[in-house]
Amino acid sequence: MPNKVVTLIPGDGIGPEIAASIVKIFEAAEVPITWEYADAGLVANEKYGTPLPDSTMESIRKNRIALKGPTTTPVGGGHKSVNVTIRKSLDLYANVRPARTLPNVKTPFENIDLLLVRENVEDTYGGIEHFQSPDYAQCLKVITRPGSETVFRYAFEAAVQLNRKKITCVHKANIHKITDGLFLEVFYDVAKEYPQIEANDIIVDNCCMQLVTKPENFDVLVLPNLYGDIVSDLCAGLVGGLGVAPGGNIGHHQAVFEAVHGSAPDIAGKNMANPTALLLSSIQMLRFLGLFHAADRIEKALRLTLSSGIKTRDLGGNATTDEFTRALVSELPPKTKDEEFVEPPDTKSKIAVATKGTWECVGVDMFIQSETLPPMPQSVGNLDLTMMSNRGTKVYPGPMPDILIVDVHRCRYIPKNGIVSNDDIMKLMKALEEKSIKWMHVEKLHNFNGKSMYSKAQGE
Ligand code: NAI
Repeated sequence: MPNKVVTLIPGDGIGPEIAASIVKIFEAAEVPITWEYADAGLVANEKYGTPLPDSTMESIRKNRIALKGPTTTPVGGGHKSVNVTIRKSLDLYANVRPARTLPNVKTPFENIDLLLVRENVEDTYGGIEHFQSPDYAQCLKVITRPGSETVFRYAFEAAVQLNRKKITCVHKANIHKITDGLFLEVFYDVAKEYPQIEANDIIVDNCCMQLVTKPENFDVLVLPNLYGDIVSDLCAGLVGGLGVAPGGNIGHHQAVFEAVHGSAPDIAGKNMANPTALLLSSIQMLRFLGLFHAADRIEKALRLTLSSGIKTRDLGGNATTDEFTRALVSELPPKTKDEEFVEPPDTKSKIAVATKGTWECVGVDMFIQSETLPPMPQSVGNLDLTMMSNRGTKVYPGPMPDILIVDVHRCRYIPKNGIVSNDDIMKLMKALEEKSIKWMHVEKLHNFNGKSMYSKAQGE
């Protein structure tokens, strides 16, 4: 079998130094990989006038696997983050971060071995944000059944491949009953297909507390995007910080592995950079490709090197990047078998079409801009006003609660009979226009197979 071709993006700052270290180690370990070099970041911007040239994207699309060094994102202006562009354009739906204690790296706990899988596309990261008034901003949290299913399917497949025993779904479904509730429901649906893996769930705040008191309680964690963003750095902190944290971004057709740290411009070109995080990412990549023997040998050499006290400055040692690399190469166990890479599993959602059933519009929420309780009509045609809330707390009917009132109100209309038609809503909007009541947005309320699919106000 010919070598697997992998796109290598050295990137900016210390990127080329740590990438060169990985190339040397892979060569010494006789890993069946051929690198195809590609540019991204500041270095590409200077050469081609774009931080992410088409040729780099073509290389990743063709080879399907890339190892990426850090790239510099200018603060306030300049080009967009290369990472975000790669992630979005290749639909890299899962961010996978192993967190394992390393010998001779000071940490509060010993023997941590976690795998964190973060949904990477949905949640509040769609960036669907609006001001509803100059003083009222909102952000849509989007969780979908196919998006959740895809990330869970990957998490369970990875758990099986890596001989993991348990997956914990991390959520806040006690508060976000609809969005995180859906995430949790899909988790247990997918879990049924993997009876060999224990599945449980935990609320995100309790998860954080337990991670810093009893991290051994966890094995694989799977989380929606925002909690995953935060908890993954917490886990990195448990094993020595971002300097030793690897990560992979997994898509349906491509996967990009990268260190979590940045381009470290303060030490670039000084032979001081620690290649460990990028090396751990490349080890993760080898396992993803089914090259377990190569991954185990390189990881063993890394552990032996650190155990012998050879460390770069960031970890309290005095080895240069080159010295650390040479020491690691000298610790490589011999290659005792030839391996062939395998194509990644198909994790695409099996939900090809939307879930079937009866989907009925049973009400409408009008969001009104008004500094005081808006003078909403009690009844318009088929629709009756049943409730108004401010920042989620009911303010009508009944006594006005002692809360801070802001200038956007939600006003809920429910039909006297049957379901709500578009005509009912148009009539309501016209009535509001006549009274000069300013509506900001309209949200339809639905039942699915008779079950209500929207939340109630606090106190309703
Ligand atoms: P940084 O991670 O580059 O550096 C923070 C500190 O950690 C610095 O003192 C640096 O010397 C040290 N450090 C980081 N990696 C190291 C390594 N491998 N060995 C030894 N020391 C290491 O974070 P910073 O300074 O906030 O960002 C610098 C640039 O990197 C920015 O342009 C930022 O946008 C970019 N960045 C890129 C990322 C990526 O491409 N994945 C991720 C984070 C930041």
